[in-house]
Amino acid sequence: MRNLLVTGGAGFIGSNFVAYMLERYPDYRIVVFDKLTYAGNLDNLKRVEQDPRFRFVRGDIADREAVREAMRQHKIDTIVNFAAETHVDRSIMSSDDYIHTNIKGTCVLLDAAREFGVERYLQVSTDEVYGHIPEGHSSHEDDPARPRSPYAASKAGGDHMVYAYFITHGVPAIITRGTNNIGPYQYPEKAVPLFITNAIDNQPLPLYGDGRQKRDYQYVLDHCEGIDIALHHGVPGEAYNIGSGVETENIVMARMILDLLGKPHSLIQHVVDRPGHDRRYSVRTDKIQALGWRSRHSFAEALEKTVRWYVENEWWWRKIKTGEYLEYYRKQYLERK
Ligand code: NAD
Ligand code: DAU
Repeated sequence: MRNLLVTGGAGFIGSNFVAYMLERYPDYRIVVFDKLTYAGNLDNLKRVEQDPRFRFVRGDIADREAVREAMRQHKIDTIVNFAAETHVDRSIMSSDDYIHTNIKGTCVLLDAAREFGVERYLQVSTDEVYGHIPEGHSSHEDDPARPRSPYAASKAGGDHMVYAYFITHGVPAIITRGTNNIGPYQYPEKAVPLFITNAIDNQPLPLYGDGRQKRDYQYVLDHCEGIDIALHHGVPGEAYNIGSGVETENIVMARMILDLLGKPHSLIQHVVDRPGHDRRYSVRTDKIQALGWRSRHSFAEALEKTVRWYVENEWWWRKIKTGEYLEYYRKQYLERK
């Protein structure tokens, strides 16, 4: 393993992963292959752009020729696929891009993995493929996929294709299923950075429904370390859940953000719930732990670091909260009935 293609590496988790891997493996070269959708941002890669082991290629993972060209030119031996449409609320507005990237794009990458005989293919997936999880249960990797949002269904579709290519074509593929990530460079449409940046500006925090939904919020670098461990020590054909094991209600998360920023709880504004909103996710992580992984950040530490980063990096998010973002915000929140 030496020449890695990291697709979606200009996004939130992908860019954190690239910085982490370049630091950790001095002899690895990384090519980020990214379409630069609204969520992709070259500012996320500023910290690595001068590194001679880093290259950026703009392209769509569903574009077969562009993917083959990058594979050939950079002698890729490993693919880590972060590229995806990732926001549940946008997938409810329209699912086209989700089918295109999360299913079709994954298939194109799997074909390239097969054609170029890669050593490893890692598919970054999500705990949302398991669907809503009732109290008293935590999802095991072999539990059936019961996705309930168009986003989750498209990710489950990608997972099924990965497994099919492992069985049918022998592609040495591994799947990771992470819980909600928080940390630097997360696009402020997701709840945590949206709430932080709104609170900084004394704007309402739009909390869906009763806010009692539970999520396992983990620090992004903990997730990156889990992906690294699965990539190097995981068994092809297997899936690995990655999560902190700590569940937090959204309303508690919102209050903690306001407390960290010294803002009043009255900024929380209950709004109409997300259609089909999964109330709870919970995963068992004994499999990735057996490979040596541990969650390093408590939720309080992860949230505190995240809030501090947004306070100190207004240059990054203020320019995002303009143009297309405001258009989306209006549709999603202000025109919501
Ligand atoms: P993100 O939305 O921040 O970034 C996605 C990146 O993919 C962007 O840079 C975008 O430009 C790129 N992209 C989108 N379509 C593309 C295409 N067709 N071709 C090439 N590039 C394309 O996403 P994220 O939150 O960093 O998530 C990364 C991966 O991790 C996704 O696969 C997501 O499903 C998964 N995941 C995310 C979380 C989370 O909490 N954010 C948790 C578990 C798993
Ligand atoms: O579980 C992993 C998943 O986590 C990833 O696969 C997804 O890519 C990622 O977006 C995330 O999905 P969620 O839907 O859980 O994340 P989001 O930040 O959108 O919402 C977190 C919780 O907060 C969820 O219960 C919905 C709620 N929420 C969200 C927004 C955007 C609100 O109450 N208000 C909001 O404005």
